[in-house]
Amino acid sequence: MISNKKFKKILNDIKRRPEDASKELGIEEKVFQKYLNGEMLIPFDVVKKSVEMWSLNYNDFFSVEDDAPKGFKYMSSSDSDLSKRLMHRNNKPYYLYKDTAYSRLSPFKPEWIEELLVVDNNDPENNEIAYNNGHFLHQFTYFIGEVNFYYIESGVKKVAVMSTGDSMYISPYIPHSFATRKNENNANGIILALTYADKLDHNCVDELNAIGVTLSKKYKMNLENEIQAFKSNLKYFLQINSINIETLSEKLNLPEITNFEKINQLPDYDTINKVAKYLEINLRDLLPIHNDAKVTIKKNSECNQWYYPNKKNKTYIFTVLAGAKKLPVSKAFEMQILQETYNEMSDLESPTHQYVYNIGQNPCNFYVNSHFEKEILPGDSLYIKPNLRHAFSSLNSKLLVLRTGGKISGDPLYHFSHVEDNQISRVIDDNKQWFNQ
Ligand SMILES: [Fe+2]
Repeated sequence: MISNKKFKKILNDIKRRPEDASKELGIEEKVFQKYLNGEMLIPFDVVKKSVEMWSLNYNDFFSVEDDAPKGFKYMSSSDSDLSKRLMHRNNKPYYLYKDTAYSRLSPFKPEWIEELLVVDNNDPENNEIAYNNGHFLHQFTYFIGEVNFYYIESGVKKVAVMSTGDSMYISPYIPHSFATRKNENNANGIILALTYADKLDHNCVDELNAIGVTLSKKYKMNLENEIQAFKSNLKYFLQINSINIETLSEKLNLPEITNFEKINQLPDYDTINKVAKYLEINLRDLLPIHNDAKVTIKKNSECNQWYYPNKKNKTYIFTVLAGAKKLPVSKAFEMQILQETYNEMSDLESPTHQYVYNIGQNPCNFYVNSHFEKEILPGDSLYIKPNLRHAFSSLNSKLLVLRTGGKISGDPLYHFSHVEDNQISRVIDDNKQWFNQ
């Protein structure tokens, strides 16, 4: 929907009073005021004119519509069944897909997928296996039953033999495939494939696209190892400041960094700190991530585990599933529920979007702000908004939980946190003109 609030915000950003804007757009001021106050719908033509006149983007005018006003969205397993899609590969049925819970706000698009191809070997070169081309989104996968996970890493086909409780993470564009391993029970394997955008989302891609391939390629850093990552990142900040390494080493009296190309050891903490201070940036900005695995495979037996809230009050067991260091706020867990009835000590709150799927054999109860909301049956799923207080109770039910940071994590979160308390509401819903008449 074209948002009148967003239109007001834009006028603030480009420092136009309504009387200025209406004149420039050739709209009667009275009518224009009605658009801004929400008394009249804003015609698309007005947006088009504004975009052309003031170098704006169309999507600046559209708002995100909240489809989870209660703080969560629930999808029953029978609703999931309604979205069944059969996928063929090599002219044979290969996957059966079903949607599970998600929201317009959720960075993830989670699928339940049954593996219809049954294999009797673990050969990654098996020509029955249809590898895809990989995709833009990150993928976390949880395995149920006997499933082979096939993937291509650096041009080499590989296979991981997975069973219930095992999990994997793959980076964007890793080609992959799945098949059921022949088993005594003749049961098809199931995966929960949770694909999500983290920091590099479609808005970023829009920006890269507009900047163009030639210029965008120059952004790419060398994160191969710690030294390359340090150098690449320092170069980035030197370029931003138009200062070269000789000048920097002179200013700081650090001859050891003058011969930049020859640095083969990470400078010590004091040196990096001096550089950070001189460039007026945080130390962490000079310590980039590097060499994170493109594929992580985690067997259930190797996972870290803990009780929550603590050993004394064993309410949940958290088992940490596959993840990647480069995505520090995207975390997946198996969560076993040990409490039969709700108590406040068991409340959970996560500053991330959350996906929950009942992988257990038993139903569980879901509470929001201490109130019972829903019974979650095996196969049911939930989307939960960030920072919502919630809890579960049941005896020995088990949930799969995926948490992802969304847009308000990392640097945007730090910037948000720097806004004064009395201005926070303005950031969230800015309706005011930037000056008083
Ligand atoms: Fe995938």
